[in-house]
Amino acid sequence: MEELLKQLEAYRAEINASTATDPKAVEEFRIKWLGTKGLVKSVMGEMKNVPADQKKAFGQLLNDFKVLAENKFEALKETAGTPESASGSIDLSLPADEMPLGSRHPINLMRNRIVSIFQRLGFAVAEGPEIEDDWHNFTALNLPEHHPARDMQDTFYVQQNPDWLLRTHTSNVQIREMEKGKLPIRGIFPGRVYRNETVSARSHCFFHQVEGLYIDENVSFADLKQTLYFFVKEMYGKDVRVRFRPSYFPFTEPSAEMDVSCFICGGSGCNICKKTGWVEILGCGMVHPNVLQNCNIDPNKYTGFAFGMGIERPAMLKYGINDIRLFSENDIRFLKQFTAAI
Ligand code: PHE
Repeated sequence: MEELLKQLEAYRAEINASTATDPKAVEEFRIKWLGTKGLVKSVMGEMKNVPADQKKAFGQLLNDFKVLAENKFEALKETAGTPESASGSIDLSLPADEMPLGSRHPINLMRNRIVSIFQRLGFAVAEGPEIEDDWHNFTALNLPEHHPARDMQDTFYVQQNPDWLLRTHTSNVQIREMEKGKLPIRGIFPGRVYRNETVSARSHCFFHQVEGLYIDENVSFADLKQTLYFFVKEMYGKDVRVRFRPSYFPFTEPSAEMDVSCFICGGSGCNICKKTGWVEILGCGMVHPNVLQNCNIDPNKYTGFAFGMGIERPAMLKYGINDIRLFSENDIRFLKQFTAAI
C-alpha cells in the first residue's frame, strides 16, 4: 500500500506539472493518462489488491486522482486546443458534405402542375373537408336517394353518424363554394377522395382529384371546351388531340367525358390506351339547374360548368409507375426518385 500511495503522489505531481503548448501534446497527455491503456486506468486496477477495510478510503483517493487528470486535460485543451479545432488541421478546400434534401410526392407534383395551369386562367384554389355530410357529397349535387353511387358498397360511412361519410369526389367543394353566396366563382379544388374499392395495382380505396367550377352570367359549353382545350395543350403539348363523349352525371347537364389522344403512343394504339389511341382524363358538363338552385343561385341568371379529373392516372403515366399502391406506401426508395422533378 505504501508503494501505491507514493506512486500516486508522484503521478499527481507529474500531472500538476504538465504543460502542453500544442494540440499534439494535449493528445499525448490524454493518451498517457486517460486513454484506454492509460495510467489512470492502471492505477484504478490496483483497487483489487487493496485490503477490504481500506477500500473506501482508497477508492476516494483514486477517484480524486482521476478527477485531477480529467480536469488537467480540460485545462490543457482550453489553452492549447484539440487536434480537431486547431487551425491548420481543417482542409478548407474540401467539398462540403451534401445536405440531404427531401423531395415532393409525385401526386403533389402532378396536382401542382394541373392547378397552376388553371391558376393562370384566373381560377382560385379552394379546399373542402374529406369527412363530409350527405348534403354536400350527394343531395345538393342532385344525386337522387336511390342513386347507385350512394350504395354502401362504394361509400365509406362514418359509424357514429349515418349522415357523415368520406367524400367520394371533390364535387362537394362545388357546393361549399356556391353556398358562400359570392359570384362569380372561378375555382379549382384539389383533394383526396375515398371509395370502397378493392385495393389492387390499378385502383385504391383512396385517391386524388382536381375539381373545377366556373359560375357566372352567360357561361356556355363553348367556354368549358375552350378552358379544357387550353388545359390539355399546356399539360400534354400542342399536338394533343381531344374528343368529348356524351356521358351522364346527376350534377351536370349536358355531361361529357373528355379523352386525349394517347400521350404514350400518340394515338396509334398501345397497352396504356388499350389499343384505342385515346385516354380518358376527365368528366365535365354544365352545372345542373337543380344544383344551382340548391345553393340559392338563380339558374335563370347564372350558368356554369364543372369538371373533375383524377390525379393518380396521369401521374402513373407520366412517371411510368405501374402500381397505384406505391403512392401511399411511403417507401423512401420510391419517393426519393422524384427529387429532380421539383
Ligand atoms: N365527380 C365526378 C367523378 O368523380 C367528376 C365530375 C366532376 C363530373 C364535375 C362532372 C363535373 O367522377
